[in-house]
Amino acid sequence: MNVNGIHFRSIWLHKSNPEIVQIIDQRNLPHEFNIEDLTTVDDVISAIRDMHVRGAGLIGAAAGFGMYLAALEAVSKSDPYKYVMQAGLKLKTARPTAINLAAAVERQLNSLSNNLTVKQMISYTLNIAQAIADEDAQACYQIGIHGLELINNIAKQNNGEVINILTHCNAGWLAFVDHGSATAPIYAAHDAGIRIHVWVDETRPRNQGARLTAWELEQHGVPFTIIPDNAGGHLMQHNLVDLVLVGSDRTTYTGDVANKIGTYLKALAAKDTHVPFYVALPSSTFDWNLHDGILQIPIEERGADEVKTIQGLAHNKLTTVLLTTPTSNASNFAFDITPSRLITGLITERGICEPNQDAIFKLFPEKHKLD
Ligand code: MRU
Repeated sequence: MNVNGIHFRSIWLHKSNPEIVQIIDQRNLPHEFNIEDLTTVDDVISAIRDMHVRGAGLIGAAAGFGMYLAALEAVSKSDPYKYVMQAGLKLKTARPTAINLAAAVERQLNSLSNNLTVKQMISYTLNIAQAIADEDAQACYQIGIHGLELINNIAKQNNGEVINILTHCNAGWLAFVDHGSATAPIYAAHDAGIRIHVWVDETRPRNQGARLTAWELEQHGVPFTIIPDNAGGHLMQHNLVDLVLVGSDRTTYTGDVANKIGTYLKALAAKDTHVPFYVALPSSTFDWNLHDGILQIPIEERGADEVKTIQGLAHNKLTTVLLTTPTSNASNFAFDITPSRLITGLITERGICEPNQDAIFKLFPEKHKLD
């Protein structure tokens, strides 16, 4: 997607030095647009853990490139294969909820063996890292095509009135490699001339909606309004939302969705007010081993400081301020589970399906394990 008219992905290899991975450091957006160089697997681990990069697809892509950097570092190690294996184990612990991270590391590790030379390991891991990034961008592009059809149908029923879409967190191109998941249909519809307006949940505590989704939409020229996290239910009760569109960090094969904390409450409100609630997800977010999101998906708990403080511009300087007494306790569950019964449909790269096992396996038959 474009930043001030220039096309960017959210992660890429340095043009003149392919041993450097570059990312957009998302921590200071929208006030500062900083590109960061990552040269070691530890750089990648910190970037994921401290959320320079974030979002399911992007942390998967970053993990893929992290394994490539580990292979480059392995040249100077006495046991290169062991070094890369251990790097993979460390990488996997950076963040627990989005399945993409562990899946990318596994995919890299499965391509390697003790018989390979370091040179081969570097070449294999680079190819796979690039494939993970390209597949993510392509899947999100396809989600845009399928989601456009859905929005088109709503537009027809609305007689050309503006379509109001509510979204939570940032399931935009910054959360993936390009296009985004929940935003891909929005961009596609806007580009097709459908009149769209987006209600952007601010998404405390890290404000990915207010800081990142709003910035993306502004860059693309899509009209939007930032709302406090608690406003969605009220808007739905007053017919001000035509569609809720969110992303997923991990999806069970039965259609339960782990997404940014607060998503569940939006789904409850949508159910009560009969507003369609769709989740846009590349199939890379499916965990084909899990059937019960509430019982089985690990929910990340982050530091209390993210809740107790807030970051913004003060006198033109990026500043973090304390909202609470210094001694207040705060809890920070980063995700919640929206059970499939509250979801109208899943928008995947292969099409839209109902959130249930039969419909999901119909779209992805190769994932169906025979008993
Ligand atoms: O904690 P984050 O910012 O990495 O959370 C990921 C998200 O942005 C959302 O949950 C998003 O809606 C899912 S799309 C990757």
